[in-house]
Amino acid sequence: KCLLGYTKPFIKCGSKGYVMPGSFRKHAEAIYNFKVRPDDVWVVSVPRSGTTWTQEMVWLLENDLDYKTAKSKPLFERFPMLETTSHIPEMGHIFIRMNFMNLGSFQGLKKASQTPSWKTLEMAPSPRFIKTHLPLSMLPPNLLNTAKVIYVARDPRDVAVSYYYLHKMIAKKFMRASFADFWNAFKRDLLPMTPVIEHVNESWDQRHNKNLHFLFYEDMKKDLKREIQGVCKFLDRNYTDEKINELVNHLSFDSFRNNKNVNNNANGDGKIQFIRKGEAGGWRTHFDAEMKIEAEFYLSARLKGLDLKYPSWS
Ligand code: A3P
Repeated sequence: KCLLGYTKPFIKCGSKGYVMPGSFRKHAEAIYNFKVRPDDVWVVSVPRSGTTWTQEMVWLLENDLDYKTAKSKPLFERFPMLETTSHIPEMGHIFIRMNFMNLGSFQGLKKASQTPSWKTLEMAPSPRFIKTHLPLSMLPPNLLNTAKVIYVARDPRDVAVSYYYLHKMIAKKFMRASFADFWNAFKRDLLPMTPVIEHVNESWDQRHNKNLHFLFYEDMKKDLKREIQGVCKFLDRNYTDEKINELVNHLSFDSFRNNKNVNNNANGDGKIQFIRKGEAGGWRTHFDAEMKIEAEFYLSARLKGLDLKYPSWS
C-alpha cells in the first residue's frame, strides 16, 4: 500500500473479496440499491481494460454520432463513473477525481468534490450513461434485467502493466513500486478491484444474457469495425458503412491520444498519458522470464474450472 503511494487502508468486499478503499463501506449499500432505469447504458470493466475506448464508442453510437458534443464535452461528464465523486464545473476538471474510490486516497492528490456520483446520477435526466469498475455482484441485482450493459475485458498481464502506469501517473513521486513489486501485488489480489479474473468471469457467465454484450480489448485492436458492428446490433442502432468507418477513425489510438476529452491527464504531470500505448501484448516487454512463468501459473490457476477464454491466452 505504501509503496504504491496510497495513504488509506483497503477492505475486502463481497463474496469474492474484492479489494476496495475503506471509504467504500459508506457507499456500498447505496450503490447496490441504486435505481437502474431501462434506458440506462452501462459500461463495466476492470480498470485499464479499454473502458474509455468503449465508453466513447457507446456514447457516440447512442447519440447519433454527435461528434460536436463529443469534441466539446469531456467523456467523464457525458459518461460519469458511478463510484467516484461528481465534477464541480466551476472548479475545473481536476477536481473530479476519485475521492472515495480506488485512486482518490493517494498521497498528494488534490482535494476532490465530496458529492458521490451515484447521488448526482440519481437526479440526472435520462438517458444516462454510466461507467463502473465494480463487478456485477456489487451492482444493483436488477441491472441486467433492466438496462443494457457492455462489459470489456483485457489480458490481465496488459491490465497489470497499464494499471502500474496509471498509478505512476496519479501518485507520481509517491509511487515507489517497481513493476515487479506491482505485479507481485496484482497477482496476490492486493490492488483495488482485484481479483481481476473473478471480476471478468462474473460477466462472462452472463455473456448470453440479452442485456449484456461482452467485448475483449484484443478483439477491438484486431478488428474495431467488426466490434463496433456487434455493439450496434446489441444497441439496436443502424449506421451506414461510411459512418462506421468515420467512427473507426475517431476511435483510432492516435486520434484518441490527441483528444483531450478522452485522454484524461488531469492528475498527471504530462510524463505518462492516460491513453498511453494502446497495445495488445505489450506486457512482454515488462515481464522478465521468471515473471512470465509466474503469469502463466497465475492464469492457469485462476482460469481452472472456468470456461472463460481470453483471446490472447489458451
Ligand atoms: P495502455 O496503458 O496499455 O496504453 P481504461 O480506459 O479502462 O482505463 O483503459 C486504458 C487503456 O486502454 C490504456 O492502455 C489505453 O492506452 C488503452 N486505450 C484507450 N484508448 C485506446 C484506443 N483508442 N486504442 C487502443 N487502446 C486504447
